[in-house]
Amino acid sequence: MSITVSQKDSVFLLSTNSTSYVFGVDDRGLLRHLYWGGRLPRAEDLEMPVLTEVSTNDPVLEITPEEFPVHGGLRYKEHCLKVMFADGTRELVYRYCGYDIRQTETGEELILHLRDEHYAFLIDLRYTVYPAYDLMERSVTVQNQSEEPVWIEKLHSAQFHIPYENLTFSNVHGHWGAEQQRFVQPVSYGKIVIENRRGISSHNHNPYFVLDRGATETTGQVYFGALRVSGNFSGVVEQTQYGETLVQMGLNDHDWLLELAPGERLEAPGILYGYSASGFETMSHHLHRFARERIMSAGLRPVLYNSWEATEFHVNSRDQIQLAHRAQELGAELFVLDDGWFGERHSTQNGLGDWYVNEGKFPNGLEELIDAVKSLGMKFGIWVEPEMVNPKAQLYQAHPDWIYHYDTRVTDTSRVQYVLNATRPEVREFIYTMLDNLLTRYDIDYIKWDANRPISQTGPQRDVWHKHIRTVYEVVESLKKKHPNVLFEACASGGGRIDYGILGIFDDFWTSDNTDAYDRLYIQDAYSRIYPIKAMRAWVTDCPNFLSGRVIPLKFRFHSAMMGSLGIGCNILKFTPEETELAKEMIRRYKQIRPIIQEGTFYRLENPSCERYFLYEYLKESEGVLFAFLPQSRVGHRGTTVRLRGLEEESVYTVTTEEGEITKSGGYLMRHGLALRLTGDYASTMIRFAKKE
Ligand code: GLA
Repeated sequence: MSITVSQKDSVFLLSTNSTSYVFGVDDRGLLRHLYWGGRLPRAEDLEMPVLTEVSTNDPVLEITPEEFPVHGGLRYKEHCLKVMFADGTRELVYRYCGYDIRQTETGEELILHLRDEHYAFLIDLRYTVYPAYDLMERSVTVQNQSEEPVWIEKLHSAQFHIPYENLTFSNVHGHWGAEQQRFVQPVSYGKIVIENRRGISSHNHNPYFVLDRGATETTGQVYFGALRVSGNFSGVVEQTQYGETLVQMGLNDHDWLLELAPGERLEAPGILYGYSASGFETMSHHLHRFARERIMSAGLRPVLYNSWEATEFHVNSRDQIQLAHRAQELGAELFVLDDGWFGERHSTQNGLGDWYVNEGKFPNGLEELIDAVKSLGMKFGIWVEPEMVNPKAQLYQAHPDWIYHYDTRVTDTSRVQYVLNATRPEVREFIYTMLDNLLTRYDIDYIKWDANRPISQTGPQRDVWHKHIRTVYEVVESLKKKHPNVLFEACASGGGRIDYGILGIFDDFWTSDNTDAYDRLYIQDAYSRIYPIKAMRAWVTDCPNFLSGRVIPLKFRFHSAMMGSLGIGCNILKFTPEETELAKEMIRRYKQIRPIIQEGTFYRLENPSCERYFLYEYLKESEGVLFAFLPQSRVGHRGTTVRLRGLEEESVYTVTTEEGEITKSGGYLMRHGLALRLTGDYASTMIRFAKKE
């Protein structure tokens, strides 16, 4: 039993294998938060503290840790829910009406029922416990059962209470080409806000929170949560005046107002959350394993080839077939045709919306390329950007009213494109039918779904920020029902849609348009804290890198990309014989280690050296892989010590380095460690280890 209810049904103890989360209902019907942290043995131990006012200026509603604070009364803190009723009342006063517990496919679920004391307005708080993953999930559904509309002014999925001050907050910042730049910030009095207002979740901040107390990879307390949303979100961390830290996350209330008609419901995105008493590594392991086993589609991801960086918009049947032959020789398993194959798409200026095959580029239709790819034994993938239209496109000429715009204003363009109003039924139908036709007519295994600009000028409706992305989810879910074997890659100008909302609906993330192998180490490291390795698409591309101008040896570029789901984005027709041989060898090795990389346990290892080594280990059952990188040798060219993790103490492992083989016990490899010295700039190595039978 992961959910226990005690004390006359008023204290709820939710427990995973090593954590507990507790709240209760007091005698006035207020939902009070009681505990979050390491596992507690019994619900009976928990008592409801008596409410006492500090002073008339510190009212009880303000100082009490509430499980789901709503707007109204003498509350001035952040609230999760704010509504306006048809008569102008802008205050919620809820009553607790009971609970249900049920077993779902994924875990045990508790639903708490609240109802406004005057209006027929229901709030269901949902908690699912995943004991073996040490994770829980919260969400909330509101329902208008009255005869009149209710306006939802704010809906956050959850509020959490952490019983400490002076925590450390971490997240990522960034922009196009520089996503996933980790930052760490002390929490003090006042608030930290992270949010997105662009309709695309995550170039700038990512919808999750991590709050720790001096944690390292392997020690210290960490409280974390990841919101399952790809549109506008906001999250607030606040150290209060009363000795605790609050954090909440949910739909962004910026430019937001949702009318809930009589009978309608609104479900806030779920938030996966957990507590680790042993640092960031445990947090990542729980999230990774849950994502792999409970969220993502099964199966290893194929090694892909994508010609975007090699050919950009200049695609044609002949060149793509040539590339496909070469890609197959190297060992690629999936050939992805990127932008430029449709309409009058020769640059960013035109084509989006006109999803017919360009006859000049593909005179014998797309079939010619697909047949060639298939006869080479590869799968075929294709790029689309279904939510967008170029002003010059035939689609826009035919349906100028299908885009987000104001009649009296010049419509914003970005990358020379408008955003289709996907919340209109006819637009949604167009997007679905276009993709369904594409997948029905052609033998396509993989869709790279892009979205290259933020949304703006959303019209009078202030709920589209939420409804737009819901439409994207629903279209892909419907397409997958009909075409269950097609994988979808979530791309939004690189890593603009990396979040737990889209994961599971889509299969892979395009991590960043920044394919510089050194920059990627930082991007991938930050990504790996929250998101699973299997979804992390990483390509080897040409040098000098188009973005950084850096020239990095092919071996380092491969090692960096082999840390995720490997892809090749080079102009492989220009490879020298040496580069061809090296690429073949690296892809061959990647296929050998792929289950360990994509399905294994991932460790960000400590680097004890004064040189900046990057050390990453992957372990699956008795086999493991280590990647070591030294981007720059500095004075002294010091080595480092690699202390592996997760091995069996007494077992003996064969360690295969570039120099040869050694055997050592797990205990030795974990505590004494291996001496490793790389020299020169952009040096890297891959080491394999396996338990001896
Ligand atoms: C975006 C993507 C790229 C590529 C281009 C095509 O920038 O992130 O990978 O697909 O669009 O226009």
